[in-house]
Amino acid sequence: MIVLGIETSCDDTAAALVEDGTKVLASVVSSQDALHGPFGGVVPELASRRHLDALVPVMNEALKRAGLSLAEVDGLAVTAGPGLIGSLLVGTAFAKGLALATAKPIVPVDHLSAHIHALFLERDPPEFPFVALLVSGGHTDLHLVSSHTKTEIIGRTRDDAAGEAFDKVAKLLDLGYPGGPAIQRLAEKGSREAIPFPRALAKHDSFDFSFSGIKTAVANYLKGYSRDSELSREDVAASFQEAVVDVLTQKGVDAAVRSRVKGIAAVGGVAANLRFRELLEARAQARGLRFYFPSIELCTDNGAMVAAAGYHLLKDNPDGSVLDFDAYSRKKALKEPFPDPRPESSG
Ligand code: KG4
Ligand code: ZN
Repeated sequence: MIVLGIETSCDDTAAALVEDGTKVLASVVSSQDALHGPFGGVVPELASRRHLDALVPVMNEALKRAGLSLAEVDGLAVTAGPGLIGSLLVGTAFAKGLALATAKPIVPVDHLSAHIHALFLERDPPEFPFVALLVSGGHTDLHLVSSHTKTEIIGRTRDDAAGEAFDKVAKLLDLGYPGGPAIQRLAEKGSREAIPFPRALAKHDSFDFSFSGIKTAVANYLKGYSRDSELSREDVAASFQEAVVDVLTQKGVDAAVRSRVKGIAAVGGVAANLRFRELLEARAQARGLRFYFPSIELCTDNGAMVAAAGYHLLKDNPDGSVLDFDAYSRKKALKEPFPDPRPESSG
């Protein structure tokens, strides 16, 4: 089954064609980084407008790269939420119109489920159940994933997402947006131990996180040293990055051990961070856990992960295709399975 996945939840316009939820035939992402860069963050109104312009060319490019026509697509999957509501409305309205015009089945996909499904596009996917650290610009959660359609959130950030902390600290260091990759590059030349930035909730007996304090700690540090020629921006970047990935990996591995699963995975934009991958791998191995990451380009937002998640909804529910689903901006309450936005299952 060939699924066309469409993703517009934030500032990337993406479309992809995926076969049987595992094989990427083509994946095209049109980044809006240059558009939002001067503002130091995503401007929602600009994002929605750019999605409107980019969607058709991005989809056509994906079809062209896969050597397919729209007629050869078996079903559509589109991100319904959570994310920026204006951006989501553009993507869902486009996908619904396409489904109607081509008489193809369509399913709404949860963005968090999509990030986790990036794992199934790799050669060696995890076996259920496993624990996933979902770490992006909008989310930082620990999921206990028990099937393609069921997960339980066992920990979450109480304030900022880890990616948000990377972006805010990058702004303090004048590194531009998005901050994660820029901090990683600067950190390569710095010392991880130079500055002992706080590890919030590290010793707390829960799998919750908190990343707003570290941003303030970095701001205070920079203020205190503003006239000190000794200040190394590289050390600030490396020490900040270490503090964030230290807590993430420690809690992730602890959660996997306590949940008695065999594997730990990391997904979402921050999972592209090389120091994060290295530390998670080392700590997972030390505790006898298998570890999994999507390839770097499938960590950040893309259409392939949406198609992979949508495949399981289309396959399991041949009659589940509906047009009257809504976009939603916020994630559903804790301990719920991936919200299934189809009306017939919401009661
Ligand atoms: O998953 P994603 O593309 O969008 C959301 O769903 O939020 O994640 C984007 C986030 C941004 O905050 C970005 O700074 C961060 O992922 N990011 C990274 C790296 N690459 C992207 N953070 C740390 N290191 C990276 N290499
Ligand atoms: Zn995302």
